[in-house]
Amino acid sequence: MDDLINMQGQGHVRLGSSAGQALTRRDGRLKVTGAATYAADNRPDGLLHAVLATAGIAKGRVAHLDVAAAEAHSGVVKVYTPGNAPKLAISPDEKIHPFVWRMETLTDDRVRYAGQPIALVLAETLEAATEGARLLAPRYGAEPHRVTLDDAEPFDTDTTAFGRPAAHSSGDVDSAREGAALHVQTTVETAPQYHNALEPHAITARWDGARLEIDTPNQAIGLSKQTFAAFLGIDPSQILLRSPFIGGGFGSKAILYGGQLLAVLAARDLDRPVKLVLRRDQMYGPVGHRAPTRQSLRVDLDETGTIAALEHDTVTLTSTFDQFLEAASNASHSLYAAPNLRTAHHGRRADVGTPGPMRAPGEAPGSAALEIAMDAAAQAAGMDPLEFRLKNYAESDPSTGLVFSSKALRECYAEAAKRFGWSGRPDAPRSLREGRLLKGWGMGTAQFPCPMFQATAHATLRADGTAVIETSAADMGQGAWTALAQIAADGLGIDLDKVEFRSGHSDLPDAGVAGGSGHTATAGTALFNAGADAVRQLAELATTDPASPLFGAGNAGVTARAGRLWRNDDERSESYEDILARAGLELVRGEGKGAREGEPERAMFAHGAVFAEVLVDPDLGQVRVSRLIGAFAAGRIINPRLARSQLVGGMIWGIGMALQEEAVHDPRTGRLTNADLAGYHVPVNADVPMIEAMTVHEDDPYVNALGIKGVGEIGVTGTVGAIGNAVWHATGVQPKRFPIHPESLI
Ligand code: MOS
Repeated sequence: MDDLINMQGQGHVRLGSSAGQALTRRDGRLKVTGAATYAADNRPDGLLHAVLATAGIAKGRVAHLDVAAAEAHSGVVKVYTPGNAPKLAISPDEKIHPFVWRMETLTDDRVRYAGQPIALVLAETLEAATEGARLLAPRYGAEPHRVTLDDAEPFDTDTTAFGRPAAHSSGDVDSAREGAALHVQTTVETAPQYHNALEPHAITARWDGARLEIDTPNQAIGLSKQTFAAFLGIDPSQILLRSPFIGGGFGSKAILYGGQLLAVLAARDLDRPVKLVLRRDQMYGPVGHRAPTRQSLRVDLDETGTIAALEHDTVTLTSTFDQFLEAASNASHSLYAAPNLRTAHHGRRADVGTPGPMRAPGEAPGSAALEIAMDAAAQAAGMDPLEFRLKNYAESDPSTGLVFSSKALRECYAEAAKRFGWSGRPDAPRSLREGRLLKGWGMGTAQFPCPMFQATAHATLRADGTAVIETSAADMGQGAWTALAQIAADGLGIDLDKVEFRSGHSDLPDAGVAGGSGHTATAGTALFNAGADAVRQLAELATTDPASPLFGAGNAGVTARAGRLWRNDDERSESYEDILARAGLELVRGEGKGAREGEPERAMFAHGAVFAEVLVDPDLGQVRVSRLIGAFAAGRIINPRLARSQLVGGMIWGIGMALQEEAVHDPRTGRLTNADLAGYHVPVNADVPMIEAMTVHEDDPYVNALGIKGVGEIGVTGTVGAIGNAVWHATGVQPKRFPIHPESLI
């Protein structure tokens, strides 16, 4: 493996700094030995097992449930249906913050999509609850359904995901198009995808009088505590939400869903702890998905191959009762220098569960379509795809006019192209072979914004020179606990092995949302600031104490390193222990915040370039990715090992999106035909070639004080288009749809 690790130019690695070191995961041993506890591993005394019954039709109403049969089954304690389910304190449609979807809590007998919860069975054992749910044998009054983009109901909307504007226009696209020499029009569709975390959505809920303890995997611990409190009508201080580890989230665990609230309501109603774990098939519907898109792009060029106008239009689906629109067109806002730019989104409603954020929401399908369009444009201009992108990538964000806070994209293109050997690429499709297989080379540009959420943290320096740092973050496999601890150690100016990291539950300061690839930047900033605040207090003690060698140096005249404060003006230093001992203090405690203040004055993005090689069987249309190389500029890399893992993981996700991942509806029943890991294909080892993810040095002083960007999602972007373009180059067939089906190539 080691020879595949090719991380370059790690900025900011300095003596005594934890950040920048390729440490292994602090929780790795716990996880591989099974010692890490996930929500469903909790077994409080008196536990009841809950199993959801879910709808087998896509639209209509539940006409009959055989509750008597279920309740008569040995071990079954209670059956909740819309007739007797405990009620929420507020409307299930209340939007108390942008991460709230309708709480589907058995509010009525309507069926709005296949897989919707229609009853909850509580029993002494999982087996009894499962059998009880089966015995309900629902009968339905079915109504005609619509589940695809083609038959869904159009509606007008001003907003896409998280309330962002649905449309944007700058310049004059129509006039520019009229004056342009070359015109390219492409259409790309992307399939619905479902988050397939290894750990299903699960919850264990236990009431102790008015106090509620919840174990549930969650990407937004603080926010979710607020959400539970609001819908239950209790004070947030009464709730302890634990989420130390998440077995894969990908966005679906940033949102709370009705099932989790139902389990809590049942526990309160029955005065016993309740555990609910969704079955694999139940994760295809009630807990979000990535909606399908149909994207039309028009690129207009002058005779030199310079983009004159760019238009990106997306049609996508949401449910009949809630709204989340995949903001795919936004991918065109900021990557290529289009002086005239128009983007739009059109919503359609279908009888499906509400979509939600899924790794690189918007950007993943949007970038896939945009990169295909860019290759089409390059062909029209008679240019090499890389040459075309180098000519047309934006130096400032065309949608806002803001200058990029940093733009190391040219270096990404150069590094990845060199490593790949792109310069020898023949322009003509079907000109490379490997034995009887067609070989193709393609590329795509990667880009992802750098949002920050709101986080708080505490850092406590103790008399023995050790420290405790606290923030509520979960570790969902990405290595948050490791990277955040590295940043915290630097903030405190001590070695990482002296730091005790407390995290994973809601009684700690809120680490914000682990989403949008903004977690390390947000929570890391809070932790760093908390450490700096503690050090500031130490410096104040020492520099004002005549007995200290630091006396008179002033707060700004000392530097923290290796558990000591050092004078900047001579060699003298004093240990944290000595400063605290002389002051007679057990500890000092610092507090820190992480957030972006005010309106950004720069456009903040991470960038990258991905190059793919594919081999295509000319007779069977089977595609294999044989090489995948990406170079990314993602700001300061806190931990090269973990960053590489995230980037490679994103690129593998891109392989799945390009060639495999697809939820297929049966048009007759409105149900998914492949709601399991056998039928819903994701890449396995045999599908994954040698992958290289490099990072290029990027020092971005604007994105945040620590220069941190995200690495969790950007690997998906660029990759899908790169693979699609490689298939196009191999076969001469332009991809119109992802995943690419073999039959479309023969
Ligand atoms: Mo992600 S879709 O930002 O959890």
